[in-house]
Amino acid sequence: MKIFVVGANGQLGREIKRQFQDKYELFLHGTDTLNITNSDAVDTAIAKVKPDVVINAAAYTNVEKAEEDCDNAFQVNAIGAENLATSCKKHDSKLVHISTDYVFDGTKDKPYEEFDLHNPLSIYGRSKSLGEKLIEQVGGKYFILRTSWLYGDGNNFVRTMLRLSREKSEISVVGDQYGTPTYTKDLCWAIEKAMCTTFYGVYHASNEGSCSWYEFAKEIMTAAKCKTIIKSLTTAEYPVKAKRPMNSVMENRMLKLRGLNTMRPWQEALKDYLEHECQQL
Ligand SMILES: NC(=O)c1ccc[n+]([C@@H]2O[C@H](COP(=O)([O-])OP(=O)(O)OC[C@H]3O[C@@H](n4cnc5c(N)ncnc54)[C@H](OP(=O)(O)O)[C@@H]3O)[C@@H](O)[C@H]2O)c1
Repeated sequence: MKIFVVGANGQLGREIKRQFQDKYELFLHGTDTLNITNSDAVDTAIAKVKPDVVINAAAYTNVEKAEEDCDNAFQVNAIGAENLATSCKKHDSKLVHISTDYVFDGTKDKPYEEFDLHNPLSIYGRSKSLGEKLIEQVGGKYFILRTSWLYGDGNNFVRTMLRLSREKSEISVVGDQYGTPTYTKDLCWAIEKAMCTTFYGVYHASNEGSCSWYEFAKEIMTAAKCKTIIKSLTTAEYPVKAKRPMNSVMENRMLKLRGLNTMRPWQEALKDYLEHECQQL
């Protein structure tokens, strides 16, 4: 199977390479070799390979910067996604597109399901939401996998907490925003499960369970045997530019209904990550 990956140098892209390189024929692209905002370049590259699957792991992911760099965030997250969808449809490739819990506003008092309405609070969330809508408009064989609080081989919350724990005896973390940490390894399993089917559509793909950022940080400290004290802050006490949803917990309803859910509890995935990827940190 030929798999074409954009965003191959990012956190998820690196995990895809690691997990898929011995099983599939991979065509990996970073921004340096393919900028997804360039529709002609995207179409030329996809036409040349005629891949079975295109995985879009590319995105403008800096949530804070996006508030002031709106056009670029929309170019990458919305137009870039549309360019890939258009070429995939033309060349009959499946598209796996990664989206986010930040398409929701966080006001629901239960976990979000796949067909809950979008109401993003930030530019990043709006641009990802438009990306999903444009893919749906283009049509074709697409899977949209929404994930949350992702960590893997790159800069992420877990690594930041481990670094801060070496520098400080106390760290304050927001305790009133809830979601689900998700390991890129587990997300790759979901990608693989989905892409080998013809059950196209929208999926939630996060690890199981939920926590606040504060609880997440506490679990990291416990699992990594760090003594640093974690203190809880409210969202109001930690001012940032981009508004975040207070509750972005998602239910993996469609993965479960299709018999494709392999997501582990987030605590189990975190232990695996700390044991295998953070030993040297
Ligand atoms: N990180 C999270 O907490 C989180 C949560 C929910 C959903 N997601 C979604 O999960 C996916 C993967 O996220 P990630 O954490 O792996 O992101 P990441 O580490 O920031 O990687 C994103 C990659 O996209 C590439 N990229 C940016 N603009 C591009 C362009 N115009 N053309 C081609 N490539 C471009 C970047 O390349 P350069 O470095 O060369 O710019 C980067 O390597 C994204 O769709 C993201 O929205 C992430």
